[in-house]
Amino acid sequence: MEAYLSEWLSLLVRWFHVIAGVAWIGASFYFIWLDNHLREPPEWKKNEGIKGDLWAIHGGGFYEIAKYRLGPKEMPRELHWFKWEAYSTLLSGLALLFVVYYMGSPGYLIDPAKADLSTGAAIAIGLGSIAVVLAIYETLIRSPLADKGKAFALILFGILVLVDWGLFQVFSGRGAFIHVGAVIGTIMVANVFLGIIPSQRALVDSVRAGEEANEKVARLAMLAKLRSTHNNYLTLPIIFIMISNHYPLLYGNPHGWAILAAIGFITAFARHYFNLRHRDINQPWILAVAAVLTAALIWLVAPAPATTLDTADHPEVSNEVAIALINTHCVACHASSPGHPAFQAPPAGIKLENLSLLAMHADKVRQAAVDSHYMPLGNLTGMTNEERQLLGQWLQHNKP
Ligand code: HEC
Repeated sequence: MEAYLSEWLSLLVRWFHVIAGVAWIGASFYFIWLDNHLREPPEWKKNEGIKGDLWAIHGGGFYEIAKYRLGPKEMPRELHWFKWEAYSTLLSGLALLFVVYYMGSPGYLIDPAKADLSTGAAIAIGLGSIAVVLAIYETLIRSPLADKGKAFALILFGILVLVDWGLFQVFSGRGAFIHVGAVIGTIMVANVFLGIIPSQRALVDSVRAGEEANEKVARLAMLAKLRSTHNNYLTLPIIFIMISNHYPLLYGNPHGWAILAAIGFITAFARHYFNLRHRDINQPWILAVAAVLTAALIWLVAPAPATTLDTADHPEVSNEVAIALINTHCVACHASSPGHPAFQAPPAGIKLENLSLLAMHADKVRQAAVDSHYMPLGNLTGMTNEERQLLGQWLQHNKP
């Protein structure tokens, strides 16, 4: 019953997290789009202090949007802020980290072959790295580095790669990926909470007081712009990380951290193309380079062809051995009604109760338990490399 309810809890929190994330990133994409499509307003609007004009049609109606150079002469009666989307994404994300990884199945996170951590130690490393990176980022953005956009971007990328590499040394690939995502997501929300919202508050105060924006407000606005630029480049990488737990192919790779770094770079670079294009600067070579890099990555990550399993050198593995292997290492979880207390249903929908099922999933099993050590989850049964080889050979001979 407990496992059953915890599945539901995980589902509801994940669902909420995705909805909040969609609302946040959707609003953020929309405002970037707006900013990039504002056109010079007619004279009478300029006289009102409007600097950008935009018309749109959506959902059966016309919309007229005006962006003020500083602010309206008077505060409007109702002003909409966009912040709860970001905050609720962070809160539900943290909840999800607890429900799925920290309390649900620390096996997703802990890989005894890398570091035999206790659950408490894993949680401390996970939350600790989020806090430390956030503190470093907040220190940097308050330093003179904030005036050097490109250098800051490079250093930020370097820090994230370092965290990615470090977490990959101690956590399972999946656990490392999701924590890099949590680090990035936390920075993005802190950008809203500690920079963008305070700057907007200062702007609103100065409009309310009927003053021209002063130097302090301008500086805050400059920093808020920098934070929002960082967020803009981080959106595509973080969405990749959100879906990455479906791809053991990537995080299960021994160089998973480098794959994540490469994907982070490529997606942020591709984002750059769109940012430029929105400003009417067309640099298609950026997309071409991103495409070539992606192709190179796909080629580099491809699993080695099964030459190591030369049929002549490796005599056929008997069915009895294969059955013994899956009974020892897989069936506790991958069965119609799993004996493992954490599962109500076969994880990933994969049942491995008999040899025809095993053969049916040959490619995936190979990827998960032979080419990578992603399975058995957390390797609590202590599956050895020799056993993985045997399983690989059986699959080689019995692929459908
Ligand atoms: C302790 C429970 C547990 C054991 C034992 C276990 N698995 Fe899994 N397995 C899981 C879970 C949970 C998932 C889903 C993981 C995910 O969503 O990333 C999974 C997913 C898989 C997948 C699908 C991967 C994909 O592409 O999405 C394969 C294949 C797999 N396991 C094979 C095996 C094999 C082979 C064994 C035995 C050598 C094994 N598993 C042992 C829990 C287990």
